[in-house]
Amino acid sequence: MDSSGHEPVLLAEVVEALQPRPGGRYCDGTVGAGGHAAALLRASAPDGWLGGCDRDGTAVGWARERLAEFAGRFELRQGSFAELGDWVAAGSCDGVLADLGVNSRQLDDGARGFSFRLEGPLDMRFDPRQEPTAAWWVNEAAVDDLARLFRELGDEPAAWAIARAIGRERQRGPLTTTLQLADLVARVVPRRGRPLHPATRVFQALRIAVNDELGELERGLDALWKLLRVGGRLAVIAFHSGEDRRVKAFGRARARDYVIPGERDVPELRQPCAPQARWVTRKALQPGAVETARNPRARSARLRVLEKIGPASNDGATAP
Ligand SMILES: C[S@@+](CC[C@H](N)C(=O)[O-])C[C@H]1O[C@@H](n2cnc3c(N)ncnc32)[C@H](O)[C@@H]1O
Repeated sequence: MDSSGHEPVLLAEVVEALQPRPGGRYCDGTVGAGGHAAALLRASAPDGWLGGCDRDGTAVGWARERLAEFAGRFELRQGSFAELGDWVAAGSCDGVLADLGVNSRQLDDGARGFSFRLEGPLDMRFDPRQEPTAAWWVNEAAVDDLARLFRELGDEPAAWAIARAIGRERQRGPLTTTLQLADLVARVVPRRGRPLHPATRVFQALRIAVNDELGELERGLDALWKLLRVGGRLAVIAFHSGEDRRVKAFGRARARDYVIPGERDVPELRQPCAPQARWVTRKALQPGAVETARNPRARSARLRVLEKIGPASNDGATAP
């Protein structure tokens, strides 16, 4: 773990993938506590530049502290990676990173409501200026919608039983705290020797819904891709199958040498085109046993890396 208290996942693999060099320009769309950003700035010394953002203003503060030693070589702003193109020029970057999800320092702050181990309000917003909170989902959403959410965003096998139990409980009064919800889930799904806390999946699903993380990813991948020059690379670390599927579909569509007119892929109707991308590694990279033993949070991480080999007609990418 570095001094920030957050251990960057697949750090060596990200640096290897993005190949930082002096004078290069990089973006970190999820700068968090600044661990990956620091490694990119160090490897691109003396004059590589990094633009970074995070939806969480507190995390931007952590990153600013973490990166102080690289003063003059980075710019950080609070906001979504889908908005990076508002202040970083299209086609100007050699490497772009998105390390999705939540960071350990957010989890360790009970007041943010991300952790089922710490008492706190049911909040879970990356950006506390936005609505709704997790309390809204838990107390206001229809039981059917909650069950779908737990199943689709948490892969929770007991989704219906948990959603129904929440529905019953909130008739007695609103659920307001993390431990109240975690205890309720644990009563419905007893642990019985399993290593994961019974509320792990429910909390993951709520966090993804509260922050519309899949919608953000859909919008953000396009935006991040536009930042790259031809020859530049996009690295994305996903922690959830729904995220990884979207990254894979995004890469596949750009690595094809044909476009699909319309909704369905009818082979006879395909129109040839030059591919925009190539996969740098055929399969997703995963952390090894040493990393997962040191940092259990890394266990579900999948890193995919795409290289831009040609510009789309409207993405502003320039040749190297
Ligand atoms: C896993 S952490 C990143 C950790 C970082 N790579 C490091 O080394 O410290 C993910 C971060 O992404 C932020 N985040 C999640 N979705 C985002 C989005 N759409 N745009 C910008 N930041 C986002 C979260 O607030 C969180 O701080």
